[in-house]
Amino acid sequence: MTDRVVAFAPGRVNLMGDHTDYAGGLALPIAIDLGTTVRGIRGGERVVLTSTDRERAADLPLSIPDPGSVEPAWGRYLAGVVAELQPDRGLVGAITTTLPIGAGLSSSAALELAVALAMGFAGPPRALAHLGQRAEQRASGVPCGLMDQLTSACGIEGHALLIDFSDETILPVRVPDGIDVIVVHSGEERALATSAYARRRAEVESAIEEIGPLRDATTADARSLPDAVRRRARHVITENVRVRSFAAALASGDTSLIGPLMAESHLSLRDDFEVSTAALDETVSRLTALPGVLGARLTGAGFGGCVVTLTEQGAIADPSGVTGRGWIVRPSTGARTTLA
Ligand code: GLA
Repeated sequence: MTDRVVAFAPGRVNLMGDHTDYAGGLALPIAIDLGTTVRGIRGGERVVLTSTDRERAADLPLSIPDPGSVEPAWGRYLAGVVAELQPDRGLVGAITTTLPIGAGLSSSAALELAVALAMGFAGPPRALAHLGQRAEQRASGVPCGLMDQLTSACGIEGHALLIDFSDETILPVRVPDGIDVIVVHSGEERALATSAYARRRAEVESAIEEIGPLRDATTADARSLPDAVRRRARHVITENVRVRSFAAALASGDTSLIGPLMAESHLSLRDDFEVSTAALDETVSRLTALPGVLGARLTGAGFGGCVVTLTEQGAIADPSGVTGRGWIVRPSTGARTTLA
């Protein structure tokens, strides 16, 4: 039995709430109208996929004990999906994407989810997100949280997702008309420094062990912690509060709070969480100086990659003019399959 399939999964940009997901905190991402498409035919006993962005095709068996050692390296994400899904038939096809790779817009989450759907995953969106997260961790060795995959799986057109990672509930928050969401690349490829991300996560976990869940803690509770851990905890505690305020500002259409909240978030990620870079700081400064810009901050893991900025509609007509690479993005629907 064979059948043709087309599956699409979007990337994401996070408006507020970074490095909070693995702390059981809050975030406010959007799924975007850039994403990854897999077109193929199900059947056979191998997964063979080409990608317009890659020279070598991935050619994998259906049983993969160690996805992290697969070559070519981009095939590790597919291998992670195959290892998690344990499909009983293969897929032969082609991958295309409109996402920049490795820029912090969750190109890997989009790839994982589109491949899982194309291979026949048929469960609910949250289960798809968890499968993608496990695949990512196996492929990359990075102990990532759930935000990227959950956003790609559950995106809602015109809305940001207020995600509470303590119970994975999602509250849709309308992005008001008259606001553009723009992503600008800092010019520095994001090395999702495996070890730096893992270290931050370990520091946050040690803070939680000492003072309990950070979503219930205050900055005063964090004072007893050793220096670096205290600052990591302070970022998560204050960032959770900013997510609520930012969601409320969007919901009420009060755009005056957007700038100060985004500025505070960027400074907290720079100084307390120490995941910014000179290029990200410079991109934020350049953007906030432009007329019609409401606010800007680094988005995603940091260590390079992109800045997100909210502007009055039409304020930045050519987002690639700022640093050479940029995109106007629209809040979009989550991952989906169409049997062709
Ligand atoms: C990466 C991870 C996410 C999240 C962000 C930071 O994108 O994959 O789980 O931790 O960094 O908010």
